[in-house]
Amino acid sequence: MPAPRHFLRFSDLSRDELEHLFARTRWIKAEFKAYRRYWPLVDRTLAMIFEKQSTRTRLSFEAGMHQLGGAAIYLNTRDTQLGRGEPVEDAAQVISRMVDLVMIRTYEQSIVERFAAHSRVPVINGLTNEYHPCQILADIYTYVEHRGAIAGRTVAWIGDANNVFHTWLEAAPIFGFKLNVSSPEGYGVDPARAAAASSFLETFADPMDAARGADLVTTDVWTSMGFEAENETRRKAFAGWRVDGAMMGRARPGALFMHCLPAHRGEEVAAEVIDGPQSVVWDEAENRLHTQKALMEFLVLGRVEAT
Ligand code: CP
Ligand code: NVA
Repeated sequence: MPAPRHFLRFSDLSRDELEHLFARTRWIKAEFKAYRRYWPLVDRTLAMIFEKQSTRTRLSFEAGMHQLGGAAIYLNTRDTQLGRGEPVEDAAQVISRMVDLVMIRTYEQSIVERFAAHSRVPVINGLTNEYHPCQILADIYTYVEHRGAIAGRTVAWIGDANNVFHTWLEAAPIFGFKLNVSSPEGYGVDPARAAAASSFLETFADPMDAARGADLVTTDVWTSMGFEAENETRRKAFAGWRVDGAMMGRARPGALFMHCLPAHRGEEVAAEVIDGPQSVVWDEAENRLHTQKALMEFLVLGRVEAT
């Protein structure tokens, strides 16, 4: 049995494979919008394991699998033996004998890596503390859909250097765009990651400077899942890191605004921005569905050429 391909980090796919996924996404999305049935995954099953909450990720994978002709099963820690200490390696052996594809949302990246190392089938990272590769797949697709190639553009990340930011950091050298980042003291890019990214990453103390000249401004919640105990400290630390109209005014005219959602208006983003004309957050959320359908097709069937 050949080793399965996984999508645990953005860099698990090459530029060429990502471009292929985007081409497939365009086609799959157009077929879906035209109500044409495309069922390449009939009789295939996706298991989704959630250790954290989700709206978009669950819905897009579950609906996506149904729309491709397959079935999706939702599992969570509370109702499975994983919550009672069954080793991840044992769970991977068992689950991957019963389904064709697994998606996991959990805490440490090492959990998805250990699962994948013992899985017979492809494993997709549906968010860990370190990375959120499916999100950036949809974000870059959304950028390209609105503005064309992202190569040579500047993306400004305002706020916590978290899992979503780390994924932008992996995507930048693959697609050849520049990344500006500004975070409060203590919540910035760790020095090792920054040093490795010095050719395409620029760090700014003032978020207004990070936004200057950007083609895309993006941010995320001040407190990610799993860090709720730090909520009050973070609210104080992040107070100056809100994307508002003045900050968007520093970006290029026509710059886009993205947010992975859920958002907190009045915290990391002002309502005037997220609900304003430069925001593409609803397209971004919708594209989770289409890009992940292309991802599942690729991981289960390999490279499907234009139909
Ligand atoms: N953006 C995102 O992953 O949303 P959910 O937490 O709702 O899945
Ligand atoms: N950084 C956020 C993203 C949620 C989709 C979190 O990890 O909670």
